[in-house]
Amino acid sequence: MFANRVNLLDGIAIAKQIKEEISTEVKDLLLKGIKPGLAAILVGDNPASKVYVASKTKTCEQLGLHSETHLLGSETTTNELIGLIKQLNQRDNIDGILVQMPLPSQIDSDIVLEAVDPSKDVDGFHPENIGKLALKQPRFVACTPAGVMEILKRSNIGIAGKHAVVIGRSRIVGIPMSLLLTHADATVTICHSKTSGLAEIASSADILIAAMGRTAFIAAKHIKQGAAVIDVGINRLDKREDVLKYFPEDQKRLDDFERKGSVLIGDVDPRGISEAGAAHFTPVPGGVGPLTIAMLIKNTV
Ligand code: GUN
Repeated sequence: MFANRVNLLDGIAIAKQIKEEISTEVKDLLLKGIKPGLAAILVGDNPASKVYVASKTKTCEQLGLHSETHLLGSETTTNELIGLIKQLNQRDNIDGILVQMPLPSQIDSDIVLEAVDPSKDVDGFHPENIGKLALKQPRFVACTPAGVMEILKRSNIGIAGKHAVVIGRSRIVGIPMSLLLTHADATVTICHSKTSGLAEIASSADILIAAMGRTAFIAAKHIKQGAAVIDVGINRLDKREDVLKYFPEDQKRLDDFERKGSVLIGDVDPRGISEAGAAHFTPVPGGVGPLTIAMLIKNTV
């Protein structure tokens, strides 16, 4: 459905490359009797979170890491969750601890993320790790933004001197993303729900990062011709008419929908990519998503 001039950035292939690099490192560690270990904590039964955590632990196992998942009920309290984190902080065979976000509303996420030992915080969400990143002394960098940087670098998309616009200011993506791009010498603008003149700002971006979690919000009017558009959003379409609307003439997508009852779409309206003449685009699925997992394993190793 994309015009020929759009270069689709293949996150699956880039993640595979990174996983191959990690696999060599893991083999060396295993020969020395060291097995890196990741503990994932999932609270409640958010279906998307379950899929993400299962995918993370499966990749760990494929690469030879120890992985374990701790499933806690949706009524779990902040103190109960912190109790588990403290146990994992103490365990020598656990190198990385991941608390899948979002957490149920009764839990204080700030306190929970601060309870993770910063030296095991493979998600890079602890204030100490975000602070270190802000000062250009990165230790653990949040996996999705780190993955976006790998996509840009390995696709030879120049960053220095470019105008990068990050839409979204979350701890998971927007904040670390804007820091990483700043350190790579981009001029960075952060936009969010209260930004006025969003389309004007976004359409001046050489590199546009869409990370606000709104289905197909970014349209042609937000995109500069020749821009690299990185779509971090993962949203679900569960109406046939919406699939036909956003993905016209995409028979494969329609077949997927008929089989599964829904398909994924990002924060970018794919029709806007061709219409605006973007140069590069990360499709959903198969763009940024695979990198998040690869970078998580890399941080753990
Ligand atoms: N929720 C959405 N993205 C992430 C992520 O990278 N890590 C965790 N822990 N939760 C998330």
